[in-house]
Amino acid sequence: MTSRPETSRWSAASWRKFPAAQQPDWPDADALKQAEARLSTLPPLVFAGEARLLTAQLAEVANGEAFLLQAGDCAESFADFTADSIRDKLKIILQMAVALTYAAGVPVVKVGRIAGQFAKPRTSGTERIGDVELPVFRGHMVNDEAFEGEARTPDPERLVAAYQQSASTLNLLRAFTKGGFADLSQVHLWNQQFVASSAEGQRYERIASEIDRALRFMAACGIDLGAEEGLHHVDFFTSHEALILPYEECLTRVDSLTGDWYDCSAHMIWVGDRTRQLDGAHIEFASGINNPVGCKVGPSCSPEEVVALCERLNPDRLPGRLTLITRFGADRITELLPPVLRAVEAEGHPVVWACDPMHGNTFASEGGRKTRRFDDILSELRSFFAVHRDEGTWPGGVHVELTGDDVTECLGGAEEILEGDLAARYTTTCDPRLNARQSLDLAFRVAEFLRS
Ligand code: PEP
Ligand code: CO
Repeated sequence: MTSRPETSRWSAASWRKFPAAQQPDWPDADALKQAEARLSTLPPLVFAGEARLLTAQLAEVANGEAFLLQAGDCAESFADFTADSIRDKLKIILQMAVALTYAAGVPVVKVGRIAGQFAKPRTSGTERIGDVELPVFRGHMVNDEAFEGEARTPDPERLVAAYQQSASTLNLLRAFTKGGFADLSQVHLWNQQFVASSAEGQRYERIASEIDRALRFMAACGIDLGAEEGLHHVDFFTSHEALILPYEECLTRVDSLTGDWYDCSAHMIWVGDRTRQLDGAHIEFASGINNPVGCKVGPSCSPEEVVALCERLNPDRLPGRLTLITRFGADRITELLPPVLRAVEAEGHPVVWACDPMHGNTFASEGGRKTRRFDDILSELRSFFAVHRDEGTWPGGVHVELTGDDVTECLGGAEEILEGDLAARYTTTCDPRLNARQSLDLAFRVAEFLRS
């Protein structure tokens, strides 16, 4: 990685000439500059070659030969940062991938919403309680959720803290995924106690036992399992919403092998539904980096806009470069997805079609907590597969918010979480997440949709 040339029109900083939505009002410009200077000298978190490997795997998804599982926290937290919570998130994602691979017979590309998912777009810039109005909570990369003046004041030191937590998280993920924990012989170990006793946990156990048997069979046939790389480690990639652009700019570096720009804060970044303006700073930034990028597509995005986003983000029509993550809501997907699919297909753009069944299905429960119904999430996914089948396109993946913990944030599921149960273990920093049982259940259902 070398320093940045300022030659072509696009540069890591060219977003600054465009309106940037959802940026905090940093009160101290000098402190922001200092944090930027520091971030610019820190090592890249990921390498360009890894981002290219992810593009290649996503190209297989775009071609209908693999499936994308993108999952993790809505917002990572500076407070909940332990080896156990990272491991448990990885466990549930590995379990879901096994369920999908085994039951649907397709390779699964695994991408976490992790090691950098620290910033949130918000509906309003401020929050009012009684007579007090404070800046809204924008994620731990910016401020703290406590409703108190100092906590809510955007602090650029948090950009550096987010980098550091991302680095430690990534270090642990690399150790877990390459150092034996993700070995297929450990498949039973990923089933956590509170999951194992449930119906979906037992269904998983049966698959795990069949995998054991298959491995023993292959070994008995004389196949050298030790030499089969794919049995012993997994490729696990990181992603987050590229929201706070000074942070992304500072981690954008030139790859010394190819001379191309990469945002080395994560393997993949995405642009959110609130910041995907064609003439806005976020799309400008994403257009020039060579990582695989995602773009959320919500109900307010017209088919023409989606095509324009494809032109802007993937003018060379590189398969795997662009993932469109639709999030229309269970009620509207059947009406809104087909025209978008047709418009993009008509222009011949190769995209990965992924479904985010979470963000179009959020509502406030009677107690005031944000929640989602498992049945709505499932319903949007069912419609996603049905629409793609009707249109002859490949339903390439799912994008979900989950945790490995036993939380009570989304309603329903096999354990039938009710509104009155939400308060019991509601620990999310932002949106309600599927717990480990709901996540595994969802993976089995998605595998069934994929198979049929
Ligand atoms: C998110 O993914 O957490 C999010 C805010 O989604 P969207 O941009 O689709 O609203
Ligand atoms: Co969210």
